Amino acid sequence: MKKKVFSLLLAASMLTSVLAGCGNTAGGNTPASPAASNDTTTVDAGNTDVDTPATTVEGAGRVGVSMPTKDLQRWNQDGENMKEQLEAAGYEVDLQYASNEIATQVSQIENMISSGCQVLVIAAIEGDSLGTVLEQAKEKGIAVIAYDRLIMNSDAVTYYATFDNIMVGTKQGQYIEQQLNLANGDGPFNIELITGDPGDNNARFFFGGAMDVLQPYIDNGQFVVRSGQTDFATVATQGWSTENAQNRFDAIISANYADGTQLDAVLASNDSTAMGVTNSLEANYAANHDNWPIITGQDCDIANVKNMIAGKQAMSIFKDTRDLAAKTVEMVNAIMNGTDAPINDRETYDNGTGIIPSYLCEPKFADITNYEELLIESGYYTADQLK
Ligand code: BGC
Repeated sequence: MKKKVFSLLLAASMLTSVLAGCGNTAGGNTPASPAASNDTTTVDAGNTDVDTPATTVEGAGRVGVSMPTKDLQRWNQDGENMKEQLEAAGYEVDLQYASNEIATQVSQIENMISSGCQVLVIAAIEGDSLGTVLEQAKEKGIAVIAYDRLIMNSDAVTYYATFDNIMVGTKQGQYIEQQLNLANGDGPFNIELITGDPGDNNARFFFGGAMDVLQPYIDNGQFVVRSGQTDFATVATQGWSTENAQNRFDAIISANYADGTQLDAVLASNDSTAMGVTNSLEANYAANHDNWPIITGQDCDIANVKNMIAGKQAMSIFKDTRDLAAKTVEMVNAIMNGTDAPINDRETYDNGTGIIPSYLCEPKFADITNYEELLIESGYYTADQLK
């Protein structure tokens, strides 16, 4: 046992230094949560009495990766990138997708715990639903990395790896502001708003970041929201679903724009909701209007990039999931080694039990002018995929 633990630590420590992630690395932290201090898989090689999951598998260790769904393109990419990079770092990976069903995600995590995973990387379907299962992880000394979405109200969360979610919203809001020349007083314009799942903590940050830019223009009358739907609960979209987004916009268009009134902009928090808006406009708006509103998005999903190229969606936000995966692997290595994880934010993300030390990758603005460089030249997509 002593030998196995030692070789685990040695292998992990050799790997740590070769992995790099997105942008700058601000190191120098110790895990803040009780889960982290009670601690993960880091054991003193000389202490043979410590019984940790580190000894239950061969190799560098076993990592559970729990993704919400295969339905949206980005989670497939996240899962694949994570698996590839963790395996390249020598870990055994248990990758599961939960069909957007909370009960499925919980039982998949239970299996990961009982099958000897030492670290769990979790993109939660609903931020608030994992507290009980993560208690089990904490009791077993298993570390938890909240991936992309913060896991709420659980003190089992060690680190949070994500993109700067506020910046995503800010970039969307600023884009609309610039395109409509709002800062110089142009208007009034008509705008409608749509964001994501109310149980996904990210949705509030995306929407909040955008509304910090746009709300003053609603307040001063440069923007009119004809539907009157502006509060988060009303503009949220269950499951981030394209169909739900489309249904809501069908109703908005028929009640407010069917008479030929022009809709100038739609703040959509991501690509799946933007797709629902676009589908609705194509069915209900295009035939009796001669403008097409500015529609924002996020993720650069293939179908949405095609819509950008076709002029149906104005912009998206590129979140390079390869970078997020690389940063998460660095966190896994740090946990396995008991070394400092890459952390660049210690103030923004309080999950209800305290601030979770986070690494925020940089989201990038994408539109028709830069998508080739951002998405094709970087090797994220092939040119053929976007045809
Ligand atoms: C992610 C977005 C994604 C959305 C829907 C959010 O938590 O950050 O990138 O579009 O979930 O899957």
